[in-house]
Amino acid sequence: MHPDTPTAQAALFVTERHLLSHFAVSTEPNAPRLPLRPHGKLNRFVAEGSRMHEAVSKLWPEIQWIEDKGLRSQVTQTWVKALERSPLKPDDLNRIPFTLLVPNCPITFMEHKRCVVHIARQSAEAMQEFMGRALPIHMDTVIAGAILADVGKLLEYELGADGKSRQSERGEALRHPFTGVALALECGVPDAVCHIIAAHAAEGDLVKRTTEAYIVHHADFMAFLPFKNPKNVKLK
Ligand SMILES: [Fe+2]
Repeated sequence: MHPDTPTAQAALFVTERHLLSHFAVSTEPNAPRLPLRPHGKLNRFVAEGSRMHEAVSKLWPEIQWIEDKGLRSQVTQTWVKALERSPLKPDDLNRIPFTLLVPNCPITFMEHKRCVVHIARQSAEAMQEFMGRALPIHMDTVIAGAILADVGKLLEYELGADGKSRQSERGEALRHPFTGVALALECGVPDAVCHIIAAHAAEGDLVKRTTEAYIVHHADFMAFLPFKNPKNVKLK
């Protein structure tokens, strides 16, 4: 297995992160040494981490657009953590509607999310081409912020008995910009990217947005507001 593959990175991450909690380690010179041999629980843990990393890579081919290897890994890890804590499964994201605010919304969560990332990148490229001299744009920050903007929705939504998504009790208390920032900070995501998560929605209207945050905010609303006028929407 090549060390750069998502599976190898996932295995390394969970192994490093959790080895100490599975094996007694002492710095005393005469302390008995325990063999570093993974037991069943750790094997299952590594396999589960690896399965989640693969699911995230499948959901988000756009993560590969991020040039900085460390940021790529932090973004992946944030999505893995969200899925681990969410009542939603990776496949649900290709099925549930992207918003609860549009009745019978025909576009799925992932269709909308990926569209926003594509709009944001292409908008940033156009702005860089024509105005980059006066308005520098950090492309990795735009892409990472767009990919993470709605990661908190995995903690905001749940599935009802009818299989449809609805807002959870936690979601009522903490909308996804807040839970998204909490997840991202846990994974070491830089503040400039967390700023985009925090400011991408209406809450961000009270904030002085960075250029990158403005781009993601408008990309998000461009792919949302037309659905609010029923005349625009062709239902299935
Ligand atoms: Fe959002």
